[in-house]
Amino acid sequence: MNDSAIWSNLSEHFNVYGEAPSQGVLANIEHIKEALGNFLFDIPPNSRVLDFGCGTGPLCNRLDSQGYKVVGIDVSDSMIALAREHSPSSITYHVGEAKDAPRLGPFTAAVSLMVFQFVRDIDGLFCDLRAALAANGKLLVSVHSDEYILANPNNHTKFTQVLRNEPLRTAKMALESEEVPIFIRSSEEYREAAERAGFSELWSCRSQPYPDGTPAKYEVMAFARDYG
Ligand SMILES: C[S@@+](CC[C@H](N)C(=O)[O-])C[C@H]1O[C@@H](n2cnc3c(N)ncnc32)[C@H](O)[C@@H]1O
Repeated sequence: MNDSAIWSNLSEHFNVYGEAPSQGVLANIEHIKEALGNFLFDIPPNSRVLDFGCGTGPLCNRLDSQGYKVVGIDVSDSMIALAREHSPSSITYHVGEAKDAPRLGPFTAAVSLMVFQFVRDIDGLFCDLRAALAANGKLLVSVHSDEYILANPNNHTKFTQVLRNEPLRTAKMALESEEVPIFIRSSEEYREAAERAGFSELWSCRSQPYPDGTPAKYEVMAFARDYG
């Protein structure tokens, strides 16, 4: 099964608009809201902002309500269908991948929550998103931290088939009846890939660890398209 089909099978799990919204999905925004606020602080309202891997659109809706001109891209047509159903017409959605982003640009900023760890070609992804940004554009990325995946917590997201000694560390994320391929990268690996694509890192941070000792789930990194 290809990635697009796997994610489409999970679209109801990501349907935050249903009668029983999944706490887990909304947590993707909730746990990084301070970092998101810091990132958006100097992005003026009315700026064009891309949400790459927007899923069913919860962050797009939040950005729209903050006055941004929002474009959401996602590889899953079912995710995009739900996003369109639950969004104002001011938000534009596209079924597509990162290579489609440059023709939809230029964007003042791009955000991508919990997507990069599912993409094998990380260099290509950074290059495509950089090409979609305007001069001095900025990118915010949040991913599962490598420590969180390697800790493989029982009470949280479950990971299987963890290969921790390969040059490219991989696992599967078990969600509903799906096993989604996931790539385990350190913050240094993300930063190096971003720099190879021409980004410079602005800052990075992690969410709070869990009270039961489980490591922080969210690694958040902000990059600038241009140096200096
Ligand atoms: C864990 S979900 C996160 C959704 C949303 N960003 C959120 O935080 O609620 C990952 C999303 O990335 C999308 N995705 C995965 N690989 C992708 C790719 N190569 N190009 C575009 N979207 C992708 C999936 O379809 C899915 O909607």
